[in-house]
Amino acid sequence: MDSSKPAEAVKNVVKSASEKIADALSPDVPGAPGSGTPTVEEPTTPHDPLPPKPEQGAPQTRTPTGAETGAPTIANGQQGAYLTTSQGARLRDTDHSLKAGPRGPILMQDHHFREKITHFDHERIPERVVHARGAGAHGVFTAYGNAEAVTRAGFLKKGRETEVFVRFSTVLGSRGSADTVRDTRGFATKFYTDEGTFDLVANNMPVFFIQDAIKFPDIIHAAKPHPDREIPQAQSAHDTFWDFVSLHTEAQHHALWNMSDRGIPRSYRTMEGFGVHTFRLVNEAGETVLVKFHWKPKLGVHSLTWEEAQMLNGIDPDFHRRDLYDAIEAGAYPEWELGIQVFPDTPEETFAGIDLLDPTKIVPEELAEVQPIGKLVLNRTPTNFFAETEQVAFHLGHLPPGIDVTNDPLLQGRLFSYVDTQLTRLGGPNFSQIPINRPHAAVNDMLRDGFHQHAVHAGVAPYRPNSLDGGNPFPAGDAENAFVDVPVTVTQAPKVRANPASFDDHYSQVRLFWLSMSPVEKEHIIRAYTFELGKCYEQAIKERQLQCLANIDPVLCEQVATGLGLPAPQPTVPLADVTPSPALSQVGREWPADGRTVGIVVDPDGDLDGVAEVRQAVFDAGMVPLLIAPHGGMVGGMPVQRTFATGRSVEFDAVLLAGAPAPAPDAIPARDDKAGRPGPAAVDPRVLLLVEECWRHAKAIGAWGAGVTVLEQAGVAGTPGIVAAGSGAEALTAVQQLMAAHRVWERFPASVA
Ligand code: HEM
Repeated sequence: MDSSKPAEAVKNVVKSASEKIADALSPDVPGAPGSGTPTVEEPTTPHDPLPPKPEQGAPQTRTPTGAETGAPTIANGQQGAYLTTSQGARLRDTDHSLKAGPRGPILMQDHHFREKITHFDHERIPERVVHARGAGAHGVFTAYGNAEAVTRAGFLKKGRETEVFVRFSTVLGSRGSADTVRDTRGFATKFYTDEGTFDLVANNMPVFFIQDAIKFPDIIHAAKPHPDREIPQAQSAHDTFWDFVSLHTEAQHHALWNMSDRGIPRSYRTMEGFGVHTFRLVNEAGETVLVKFHWKPKLGVHSLTWEEAQMLNGIDPDFHRRDLYDAIEAGAYPEWELGIQVFPDTPEETFAGIDLLDPTKIVPEELAEVQPIGKLVLNRTPTNFFAETEQVAFHLGHLPPGIDVTNDPLLQGRLFSYVDTQLTRLGGPNFSQIPINRPHAAVNDMLRDGFHQHAVHAGVAPYRPNSLDGGNPFPAGDAENAFVDVPVTVTQAPKVRANPASFDDHYSQVRLFWLSMSPVEKEHIIRAYTFELGKCYEQAIKERQLQCLANIDPVLCEQVATGLGLPAPQPTVPLADVTPSPALSQVGREWPADGRTVGIVVDPDGDLDGVAEVRQAVFDAGMVPLLIAPHGGMVGGMPVQRTFATGRSVEFDAVLLAGAPAPAPDAIPARDDKAGRPGPAAVDPRVLLLVEECWRHAKAIGAWGAGVTVLEQAGVAGTPGIVAAGSGAEALTAVQQLMAAHRVWERFPASVA
């Protein structure tokens, strides 16, 4: 998969969509619900199930013990043309229960009724206790080979391709909560290696709230909705969260990451991922190094603005999952490089004075470069959300030979927690046999029976040693590539409930992060704290957190205190003298805009010159154009994707104005409150609102022809990132250049340095 593919692939999708759909209104942008073209009349000619959509994938058809079956993945689902019971008996009718006469009671013997209702009654399973809201995708990981010197893991050997499944998630919200809340994001990857599955269960932030897993229930109880009213949903802007993190100052570093733009990603595709903990790699010679894993997105790290995030929570609560699926469907395959920071495996387990076992600390990239070791491309969306995304089970103990854990006390606790929770969530101990969890390596364990056992184990001796099964299974050694438990020396020490003294520094790296931010990122952080603490009820909690901010940085503290109307306290610890890490800032560079959405406002009664060409040029650039018009249907032979009534600025990364449409017949505030603004308007008020919102959200806006007058009417003409061009092509070129930097932050000069 090379990076030139998305543009080509977008064209292919366009082509196949227009081939497949005869209707002149054929959608040529991502999002078609099914692979067929529905007819207005109910289809009645029996035929096999429709194939999945071209961009969909499914788990390989493996046996429960990992053998390839050779069956197509579609064999995982329903088969044949006719409706059947779960036992395959064909049915004549599923709309009427079997009754004693048309007006009589339902008969107990109606097995079809009981089977259908019973199964439905049990469709829901417990949602994950954390990370309940998520979206997944299939892909492939290709190793560069440069990690071969430090690990014996086969999937990291040069050119080796490994299938993967990735699940992105928020932490706090319930399954049905919104995507764009301020929160940490999960980034969990299952590598189906032929030496056993490797799960890299990462987040989009490199540090964690706590240093010891025993406190995980505490931080989660504090961050989840209050137990009495069960509000607020999926947010940290409430008293219990700030109560905990202000009393428990090791959480301040992660809290600052959450308050930064990292807490509101633009897309899963524009997030970094971090394994957080330090892992230990071991090579063929038995030599070890310590490493931290990083995912680096090809598109760069980008975020929403806070207002955009809040609007999206209502307007499109599925924004992130839609973006992921649409990008894959359009062929703009999300890509990351996997990288490692490598440290010598010394008895102290420190690097440059930083304790590598402390999950509240990073090692700045300027001190230890992130070395890319392979590429991940997500190229298939799941065929069935429940079967794949919901039932996937990650575990940090899923390690192939060559990768081992360290004694990080958070990591150690996680090793216990995941399998424990999955026993309940997935209804028994055999969840590794669910199709999405089946390994791609031969399984010969001695685990037997239990709920939902799919394997049919032969033999009589699931124990070792045995002679009745001829001694099978046999222990493997180095020659057979057995897992390596690195024989790390455990220093003699008293049994205690305590942390190493180095864990006591709770502020120096928080300050490092703050000082590494650009001015505009600092403004966003100040805004985030002021918002979150402003939402707290108790004054004491605000004051206590202000004290923590004073210990991070006086400017940060003063600015937030001003917003809260409280005095800024003095620091109670000496402010650390730290060297900023520019790598932590996400602005100031340029990145590809693959799969981004460009809204094009057209006026059906105006000049449509250049619109078709611009639309095609957006496709050719690997992005998705959405035509916005006063009404649905067609304009100038092109399908309209959004009307002024259905569209909203937050869907678009940039907007092009090809006309100045007069108020449409439905621009009536009584019908569409977006149309409400004082006084008469020459342009539809919803177009002006679109422009104003895009401007506020620092997005690029381009216009040509009559569209230029919209810029003037919206009062944004001549400001940074507003392009009044002579033609559509010129407008698009200029807007594309602006999009490379993600936002036009120059529009809003910062007040802090
Ligand atoms: C560095 C710290 C941590 C990271 C990066 C992390 C990451 C994740 C991710 C990405 C998921 C979602 C997995 C999925 O998509 O299915 C998850 C789920 C979960 N995490 Fe963590 N987590 C961390 C710390 C902890 C700790 C300390 C505990 C408990 C001691 C814990 C317990 C859980 C549980 C119970 C789930 C739900 C698992 C399931 O139901 O499948 N996590 N975590």
